[in-house]
Amino acid sequence: MTLSASPSNAGEVRAWDLPTRVFKWTLVFLVICAPISTKVGDVMMTWHRWNGMAIVTLLVWRVLWGVAGSTTARFATFVRPLGAFGYARDLLLGRTRKFLGHNPLGGLMVLALLAAVATQATAGMFTSDDIVVDGPLVAVAPVAWEKLASRIHHNGFLIIASLAIVHVAAVFWYRAFRNENLIGPMVFGAKPAGAYEDARETRGGSVMLALALLGLAVVLVFGGLWAVGGRM
Ligand code: HEM
Ligand code: HEM
Repeated sequence: MTLSASPSNAGEVRAWDLPTRVFKWTLVFLVICAPISTKVGDVMMTWHRWNGMAIVTLLVWRVLWGVAGSTTARFATFVRPLGAFGYARDLLLGRTRKFLGHNPLGGLMVLALLAAVATQATAGMFTSDDIVVDGPLVAVAPVAWEKLASRIHHNGFLIIASLAIVHVAAVFWYRAFRNENLIGPMVFGAKPAGAYEDARETRGGSVMLALALLGLAVVLVFGGLWAVGGRM
């Protein structure tokens, strides 16, 4: 297997585009770095604040990619809240249903993870230690927001960590009890060809478009900060 966007082996189809895979593992890396970076570096938590803003930028990119990315990366493909009930029932009854992208239950978990990380990162921008370290929007927000955001920010990592544990447990459950390897495709992009319910093969998702949208995300995040008078 290769890391390229198209599968190299016969009998395999492209499941995840390269930008989605780079996003996923970069997000994992930065979320793990977030609590660690509060303990290293200067008293201004420079590493932590820039690490956090990189997460904000990635999340804005993922929203854009959820509309313009390849088929399996699009929200319209994997957000099926009602379908999750039927899928959960079939799972409990031992009926195997195969999805090329996120299955309906996995799609909900992906949304929950993204929402938890987004809430934590947004709160971070309004968080202050009331001594020297301020998030970039503290100076322009009412004091009540800062108090609420700081409370959310001090507890939010626990929620992210809990969701991540369930998420990883589910991935290993599929490996152990459904003989389905989900990690390989999220690294290399390909899955065995087969009768998937959602799509036969993912389409679109060019790297050039992803880079253009990353540029747009940077402009939206840092241009937005500048426009409202925020300070890094
Ligand atoms: C901080 C921890 C983690 C976070 C926040 C996280 C977040 C996510 C997100 C947002 C996605 C959806 C990707 C997308 O469509 O954009 C995803 C998918 C996935 N993640 Fe994680 N993840 C974490 C840790 C892990 C770890 C440690 C593993 C490996 C053991 C893992 C394995 C996977 C797999 C296999 C998928 C694809 C699931 C599927 O096929 O539907 N994740 N993760
Ligand atoms: C998902 C992203 C983030 C995670 C997981 C995270 C996690 C954390 C953690 C675990 C702490 C230590 C809390 C404590 O001492 O009780 C912290 C503190 C802090 N974070 Fe974040 N953070 C994130 C994003 C951000 C962002 C985007 C900013 C602002 C740019 C930010 C600004 C701060 C500040 C100012 C503090 C110090 C608060 C204090 O000491 O009272 N964080 N963060």
